[in-house]
Amino acid sequence: MSDEILVKTEHLKKYFPVRKSGGGKAFVKAVDDVTLEIGRGETVGLVGESGSGKTTIAKMILGLLPPTENTIYIDGKNVWDRKNTKEIRKKVGAVFQDPASSLNPRSTVYRSLERPLLINGCSKGEAETLIRETAAKVNLGKELLERFPYELSGGQQQRVSIARAIMLRPRLLVLDEPTSALDVSVQAQTLNELLNLQQEYGMSYLFITHNLSVVRYMSDRICVMYGGKVMESGKMADVYENCVHPYTFGLMSSVPPLHPRQRDRKKYLLTGDMPSLIDAPEGCRFCTRCKFRQPVCESQEPAMKDMGDGHFAACHFAGEIEF
Ligand SMILES: Nc1ncnc2c1ncn2[C@@H]1O[C@H](COP(=O)(O)OP(=O)(O)OP(=O)(O)O)[C@@H](O)[C@H]1O
Ligand code: SF4
Ligand SMILES: [Mg+2]
Repeated sequence: MSDEILVKTEHLKKYFPVRKSGGGKAFVKAVDDVTLEIGRGETVGLVGESGSGKTTIAKMILGLLPPTENTIYIDGKNVWDRKNTKEIRKKVGAVFQDPASSLNPRSTVYRSLERPLLINGCSKGEAETLIRETAAKVNLGKELLERFPYELSGGQQQRVSIARAIMLRPRLLVLDEPTSALDVSVQAQTLNELLNLQQEYGMSYLFITHNLSVVRYMSDRICVMYGGKVMESGKMADVYENCVHPYTFGLMSSVPPLHPRQRDRKKYLLTGDMPSLIDAPEGCRFCTRCKFRQPVCESQEPAMKDMGDGHFAACHFAGEIEF
């Protein structure tokens, strides 16, 4: 594994067993053959409609949900090898959408921040120094440390979650819709603070969101998921300005263009819903909604095509379709 790569996973799968309505067992193919790399100090944006498998990937990377097949390496260490658990826990942090649910309502902010430090072997004094330093970094006023979560605004609660996630100075921060529950005015401020923290500590981010404008602002690279599979990935600017997958084109059509000269570009409005992942289509997962589909799309799964310069797309006709 190259030194530049912090997180690597190949052909990762997560199948959830479920009971079929008529009896018998079936599997929800929530993450199905996903290959992903995150470089050091890099932000990879993971986007896709609800149910496309984003959180499931995040939980596997964080060591919270075991993969069905294959594994994840962080700094060359297998996340799912128990002898690495302690070391990996220090290297990853996570921030989720709803800060209130990830904070203990009966603990003050200070106690919530202190607990993981003590568990990781810090003395009370070391913990205090770290807490004060980190609270200042995330603009969490000293006076808030003795409050309870319900006494804080949503933005302040999310700052506590961010402080807790970076307390042990992780190499990777997994951010799953970190600003979706916040007021618009607080969103922009939180995103900028996250960018500053990344610069200061050189962390890598896996940034998960539905919001394409946010992902464009935050990410170096983007990975577009649909129905448990990666549809397209590459450098943010390449994918944003030159997407080659019909699904990405559909998603991109829903956000305003960056340049006024692109205002007249064609749009492709996505209609319909994602099919059930229990009976996922045999060929291309997107074929039930794709207006460019051909007979081959229904029977054969498209391979990942290399479009050059780290840009990949899983479409039989990638690069041939005129959008
Ligand atoms: N424990 C579980 N058992 C069965 N199915 C599950 C389980 N957890 C998730 N799923 C299914 O796996 C698929 C992917 O879910 P996931 O939460 O990863 O999607 P997501 O992309 O994060 O969606 P959202 O944008 O709504 O957060 C969905 O079909 C979901 O219903
Ligand atoms: S493989 Fe076929 S159905 Fe799938 S995105 Fe490409 S054109 Fe559409
Ligand atoms: Mg999710």
